[in-house]
Amino acid sequence: MCGIIGYIGKKSLDEVLIEGLKNLEYRGYDSSGIALQNFNDVQIIKSSGKIKELEKKLQEINLINSNIGIAHTRWATHGNPNIENAHPHQVGNITLVHNGIIENANELRQKLTKEGVKFKSQTDTEVLCALINFYYKNDISSAIKKALKEVKGSYALAILVKKDESIYAIKKDSPLIVGIDKDGYFIASDISAIIKYTNKYIVLEENELVKLSQNDYIITKNNKIIKKSIQSTEIDFESITKSNYKHYMLKEIMEEEILLEKTFNIYNDKDSLIDISKYEEIHIIGCGSAMYAGMVGKTLLEEKSNIRCYVECASEYRYKKIFYDRKTLVILISQSGETADTIAAMRKAKENKIDTLAIVNVKTSTIARESDYKIFIEAGKEIAVATTKAYLLQITIFSLLAYFSSINKHILKEINLKEEEKNILSHLKNILEQRKKYYEIAKKIFQEEDIYFIGRGIDYSLCLEGSLKLKEISYIHSEAYQAGELKHGTIALINKNTPVIAIISDQNIADKTLSNIEEVKSRGANVIIISTKKISNYENNIVVPKISDFFQPILIIPILQLIAYEVANLRNCDIDKPKNLAKSVTVE
Ligand code: AGP
Repeated sequence: MCGIIGYIGKKSLDEVLIEGLKNLEYRGYDSSGIALQNFNDVQIIKSSGKIKELEKKLQEINLINSNIGIAHTRWATHGNPNIENAHPHQVGNITLVHNGIIENANELRQKLTKEGVKFKSQTDTEVLCALINFYYKNDISSAIKKALKEVKGSYALAILVKKDESIYAIKKDSPLIVGIDKDGYFIASDISAIIKYTNKYIVLEENELVKLSQNDYIITKNNKIIKKSIQSTEIDFESITKSNYKHYMLKEIMEEEILLEKTFNIYNDKDSLIDISKYEEIHIIGCGSAMYAGMVGKTLLEEKSNIRCYVECASEYRYKKIFYDRKTLVILISQSGETADTIAAMRKAKENKIDTLAIVNVKTSTIARESDYKIFIEAGKEIAVATTKAYLLQITIFSLLAYFSSINKHILKEINLKEEEKNILSHLKNILEQRKKYYEIAKKIFQEEDIYFIGRGIDYSLCLEGSLKLKEISYIHSEAYQAGELKHGTIALINKNTPVIAIISDQNIADKTLSNIEEVKSRGANVIIISTKKISNYENNIVVPKISDFFQPILIIPILQLIAYEVANLRNCDIDKPKNLAKSVTVE
């Protein structure tokens, strides 16, 4: 996905645009650019690489006098991450930036090439720009509508038109908000781009066209002016700064204790969450870490609440045959609420008249708005691309859902939840304070090329997340394996000193996993064990306090997150913005 910001008003334009891009960089950082307009003159400056490269360029160039501009930071979908493909794109009278993917771009490119258009880039965005310009005579709204009628795909657009000092914006499937303050108007992919200036915003819905001018803004839909409510966010600017941490990721891991306490206080009894015990089957759908959180949820709901669950990644679920022959609830898990595949999975369930529940962080997101039921994880803004605090709160919600469902189904007698939660918070505080211990582990493995994670049941689901965290921020190849499965082939890759991180939280099957640990140890592996009971004759053994099974994953995952962080830090990786990644994948 990409980040878009536009501004028209009295503030310093380049400062607002660059500041906005910096706060959108987590959405993509292959290249970036800005366009400034002074009536018929549109100045475009672009750069490959991170925003700081663009900032350097701006200091070397005389900028035109302007108070209207748009800007973009890119996560490449069509075409290499180079300057030619960077946004903004300009064709004739039209200059625009785009977040999304035009699926029929090639067909439209051929049509426009026949009309004599000469393309400079490989991007779908330039095709869209050329199409709008193709229809533009002197009515931009009509040109935009005609062009978008021919387009298949997703878009959030901010558009400049020569001699018309306004910003036009419209969206379909990609997020876009209008920011409002006393000095002017903003258009942005999300609130973090403009929170430094205003917390007042309007969420644009599908195909609503907004025109931002010097002194007002107009929103139309099907050529009719519509009024939309102005919302305000409680996110403050401070919450999207690093404070005194080296990386956002570390700050966000350290926030887990206070956020967990907040979650326990919000969802503090069985009436505070939807009663899912009435469903016969639950489909838990997400992507990446969100899906792995769903796998933790599946084990808890099946083993503890006796509810049949099915977990699938959204990119598969949206296309495969699904049986809705039982009373089913589809749970969508998504931090951003804008992941394209998860949105599609949600819409598939709704088309089949199936109840949908979103476990989501961003309250204004598409998934939050369109699902039948929502549970907000209240993680605050998560800036680091690799999720940590949001993932922890996702599994916490599943722990609470499983606990309250087992009460509702009279499977379990109530425990003293407040006491248990107090216990958990105290243990988590200690765990987060023991960074030195994880640093020592990291020092032993950070130069390895392959690192394996093994576990059984819920521990395997935690291994998947631990392995993904390590991969995505340290670039070390890693695999998570069911402990009993490794010997069926992959054990061939275990060499002397190959690190194998084993998780044992379920004492009922601890012996089985220990046998698998012996199998790899006998082949020279460097075994690191994270367990709820001391394992004798293993020096690298992190012991986690034993708590209720419902909540045990909450104490294990921060350890995996911090080991991954320390490894990546030792490797001097760009931890908050890993290469090739984006915070929310709003394209297929
Ligand atoms: C985050 O660490 C992961 N890189 C990524 O897998 C993420 O969990 C996935 O893209 C889903 O994002 P979402 O929760 O915003 O839907």
